[in-house]
Amino acid sequence: TSSHRITLLAGDGIGPEIMAVARQLLDAVSRRHGFALAYDEQPMGGAAIDATGMPLPDTTLAACRAADAVLLAAIGSPRFDSLPRERRPESGLLALRAGLGLFANLRPVKIIPALIGASTLRPEVIEGVDLMVVRELTGGVYFGTPKGRVEADGQIRAFNTMAYSDFEIDRIARVGFDLARQRRGRLCSVDKANVLDVSQLWRDRVESLHGDSYADVALSHMYVDNAAMQLVRDPRQFDVLLTSNLFGDILSDEAAMLSGSIGMLPSASLGSTGPGLFEPIHGSAPDIAGQDKANPMAMVLSAAMMLRVGLQQDAAAADLEAAVDRVLTTGYRTGDLMGDGCTQLGCQAMGEQLLAALDG
Ligand code: IPM
Ligand code: MN
Repeated sequence: TSSHRITLLAGDGIGPEIMAVARQLLDAVSRRHGFALAYDEQPMGGAAIDATGMPLPDTTLAACRAADAVLLAAIGSPRFDSLPRERRPESGLLALRAGLGLFANLRPVKIIPALIGASTLRPEVIEGVDLMVVRELTGGVYFGTPKGRVEADGQIRAFNTMAYSDFEIDRIARVGFDLARQRRGRLCSVDKANVLDVSQLWRDRVESLHGDSYADVALSHMYVDNAAMQLVRDPRQFDVLLTSNLFGDILSDEAAMLSGSIGMLPSASLGSTGPGLFEPIHGSAPDIAGQDKANPMAMVLSAAMMLRVGLQQDAAAADLEAAVDRVLTTGYRTGDLMGDGCTQLGCQAMGEQLLAALDG
């Protein structure tokens, strides 16, 4: 039987609660499909700051590098807001993405029929939505230099740099074009080329790649402000959305709400070699941490993405996704998704329903 090494990063807030659910489900599907998962739990984010003073200890990064895949729950806590930026939990996540070379962040948004009523948008707007945000993850304004804060002449100024090189744009655009080919053949590249030089280069490179290698994909360009509007006006028009780091961060939170709750959406972060990182797009939700209220579904769906994209265990991934569908169709909901006539469950009880639903 095959065996996969998984580094588990439970992190902060609701992280440990949702990770426990994902782990139970992973154990169940790996047993059923005849492969083994060897877990290595490592501290990350605030949990690592408490243990070692740093949000991404060298030992954690090394364990991630040595794994076949990394599964992360969530990081961050207001307890660390007063630390210098480079020692906060979020910096650990950025260092992990950079350290593993994870330049491509895939954020699928697919409306689950049972949740159509859970969205704040009208059913006829969101029915059938199936889009993928392809977000560049190791460049742009998140990582650009110079950056910082200076005080001079009685004024304080702070600044960041939004920069992309041709190489960085080309490699993420290729991921977008390749995915469009496997999906419905449409790529919409998001930028702000009417204002930003970096966006003009982005658009130029995407255009030339399209002409050279991807003429079969239907390419369009959209300014980011318009894209934000179109996502709520008519989200069905999108297949693959290609974005820079910051624009994708913002648009993927917006797109998440099409599905009713940010507690539903998984993501995969991939490099050109080495293990991928799989995590829900939501944060650590400190306001409900430790109260058994969190929605574990984005975490479970991230585990499914890990199985499919990272470990080529497609059948096991499909089992997890089917379990999520079944439980929602039966009418079980966590608090973020409550609807008329549904039964509210806590995080653990939802995990038990998901386990039971694995058996059909
Ligand atoms: C995300 C998060 C992170 C980001 C934060 C926690 C650094 O919002 O994964 O979308 O901005 O990338
Ligand atoms: Mn975000």
